[in-house]
Amino acid sequence: MAIERTFSIIKPDATKRNLTGKINAKFEEAGLRIVAQKRIQMTLEQAGQFYAVHKERPFYGELCEFMVSEPVVVQVLEGEGAILKNREVMGATNPADAEDGTIRKEFALSVGENSVHGSDAPETAAEEIAFFFSGLEIVG
Ligand code: CDP
Ligand code: MG
Repeated sequence: MAIERTFSIIKPDATKRNLTGKINAKFEEAGLRIVAQKRIQMTLEQAGQFYAVHKERPFYGELCEFMVSEPVVVQVLEGEGAILKNREVMGATNPADAEDGTIRKEFALSVGENSVHGSDAPETAAEEIAFFFSGLEIVG
């Protein structure tokens, strides 16, 4: 499988509980390399644009408010099959459905406050990386 890059966010529920290091350890243990990372306070406009695909969903407003409620850590992860591998390490959207050992199983509070975001496909990974990072900020 090819070396890929994917986009990740450590969400407000996790930064608030000081879990950045524990979550990064999960990525690194799975063979994902953190090739870019910064802690930011998202604006409501950025959150709304980032999650525009969910605009019509009932949870959209609450999700955007949550994403701006505390700082987040945005990241680029690199590795063999990184997009799928990251989704596996994250676990299911709803922590109640997540496999043992996954980030969401161990750390998520609810389906909304679920500790991490990860891109779901090569196209979204490229778009999401470009939304938060310039090429110069990514050092593989
Ligand atoms: O993050 P993931 O790709 O696993 O799930 P999604 O279906 O793309 O949904 C994006 C985010 O919306 C989730 O990670 C949750 O934070 C939130 N969400 C929610 O609050 N309630 C739902 N029923 C589904 C998703
Ligand atoms: Mg998604």
